[in-house]
Amino acid sequence: MDSDKMSGTYYTPPDAIQFMMEYLKKEQQDFSNVLEPSAGDGRFLPLLQENASHITAIELFQEKVDQMCREYPGSLCTIVKDNFLDFAVNTLERYSLIIGNPPYINKKLMGKEELEKAYVICTEAGLRKTVMQNMWLAFVMGSCRLLQPGGSIFFILPMEFLQVQYAERLREYLEKIFNTIHIIVFQKALFPKIEQGVCLVYLTNKRCSERHIRYKMYEDCKKRVPIQENSIRWNKPLKKWSNAILDDSDISLLKNAVNQYPRIKNMGQIAPGIVTGGNLYFILSEEKVEKYQCREFVLPIVQKASYIPKNVIEISDAVVKEISLENKPAYLLNLSGEKDIRRLPIALQKYLNWAGEQKVGDIPLKDCYKCSTRMPWYGVPIVKKGEVVFFKRYGHLPRIYYNSARVHTTDAGYHIRLMDEVDGESFVFCFFNSITLAQCEFNGRYYGGGVCELVPTEFKDIVVPYRRIREKDKEKLRFLFKSGKPVEDIVKFVNGLTICRNYEVEQIHRFEEIRRVLMVRRDYKIGS
Ligand SMILES: C[S@@+](CC[C@H](N)C(=O)[O-])C[C@H]1O[C@@H](n2cnc3c(N)ncnc32)[C@H](O)[C@@H]1O
Repeated sequence: MDSDKMSGTYYTPPDAIQFMMEYLKKEQQDFSNVLEPSAGDGRFLPLLQENASHITAIELFQEKVDQMCREYPGSLCTIVKDNFLDFAVNTLERYSLIIGNPPYINKKLMGKEELEKAYVICTEAGLRKTVMQNMWLAFVMGSCRLLQPGGSIFFILPMEFLQVQYAERLREYLEKIFNTIHIIVFQKALFPKIEQGVCLVYLTNKRCSERHIRYKMYEDCKKRVPIQENSIRWNKPLKKWSNAILDDSDISLLKNAVNQYPRIKNMGQIAPGIVTGGNLYFILSEEKVEKYQCREFVLPIVQKASYIPKNVIEISDAVVKEISLENKPAYLLNLSGEKDIRRLPIALQKYLNWAGEQKVGDIPLKDCYKCSTRMPWYGVPIVKKGEVVFFKRYGHLPRIYYNSARVHTTDAGYHIRLMDEVDGESFVFCFFNSITLAQCEFNGRYYGGGVCELVPTEFKDIVVPYRRIREKDKEKLRFLFKSGKPVEDIVKFVNGLTICRNYEVEQIHRFEEIRRVLMVRRDYKIGS
């Protein structure tokens, strides 16, 4: 399995290959000169042979090449042992179709030389090195340079390609050079044994075609009729191709709505919470605070949103106390001013000496990058806290809290220090409207398991239809949360006091539908 991970070997199920071939035939694909750049055991070859005039199959490993040579002799297939990253820059051949399932290998697992080659392929196309985070990106870029005019790429790519920020420049580049982009997703996982969600991406230039991104969702790869199909023509560059699940008119509606309201970045200062360099060692439970006699050296902190009770929208003193009473880690060692360890209580000295030697990966904690660059190594830098905290990952509804306890959090939370004229509680209240919630889904990215995440730039652009809310309405919202009312009830109540002032009921229904579609796509069951 590990060597599979190093070489990015996950073989494509036959049904998926069948699907791809039939799809291409429907698209009247030119099969005159086909390239399979990471052929593995050659499983694409039998079906390609039925359609192609000539196929070149590249594979890095000799034993796989030998196997293919045995199984697919003859002049139709040229099987080459090569590194595709070399092949892509050296060959003069150009192809009508490049098809396959490129290796997914994290940049951190790639050798230096390999990475250098990948950088060259990216930078020669005008993209920055930072785009190159995974081997599949180099395969996409390498393939782009090998196409005949009007040629096509049809790849199985990780779902993250559609949404991650590092690939945004790549998506923009592809939108420029291909007038026809198809994204094909399946409700049932294509590779059920691995966690990686995948999609099919078909890139081509059709004669007389208006530029568009088509999104198709099928139940599984045995089906031939999509259960959903959209085409994006106006909203380009689309930035996140995963958002093509909405149609053009819904995207325009959401974008226009977003322009009506202030962005969070214009309502206050936003900064992540504290980076400790080792939460396990620097954030202590009540019991440990006692044991290490360090009460005077700790600050209360919320390490994770999951420690906060469900159904609240305020981090109050009571919430902080509850976390500590459950003996969860809730106290941050605040020792940046304590340069001389000998002045600390003996029990704490012993603890720090022990903690400093604990391995994080292969390195003792005190020698890890974060700790080794500060003096003393155990002096966690304290940053400012805000009256509102947004935790960057959420499942159900965004986790945004009025921080009445003025407690610190780790960098899992973004702290908002609002401008004086903005009331924190009203801000949190107004956040739970359909437009803001839909925008969180639209701007964020999602992972397996249905979690949505917003990185700081994505969060800062979120809009809030802010207005000051009366105490009795705030109280009602707290009650709706506390009594576990369905999301729809909460959102309806907040909508009534926020966006209903600007939009008709029907439009609000559409925003709600947009939010629902975007939420369901990340496989998060609404209402759960
Ligand atoms: C995800 S598997 C796909 C195999 C097969 N095409 C399929 O779809 O089942 C990727 C293949 O790429 C090969 N590979 C990895 N790095 C490569 C490189 N730099 N050049 C060519 N092939 C490579 C691996 O050995 C593996 O067989």
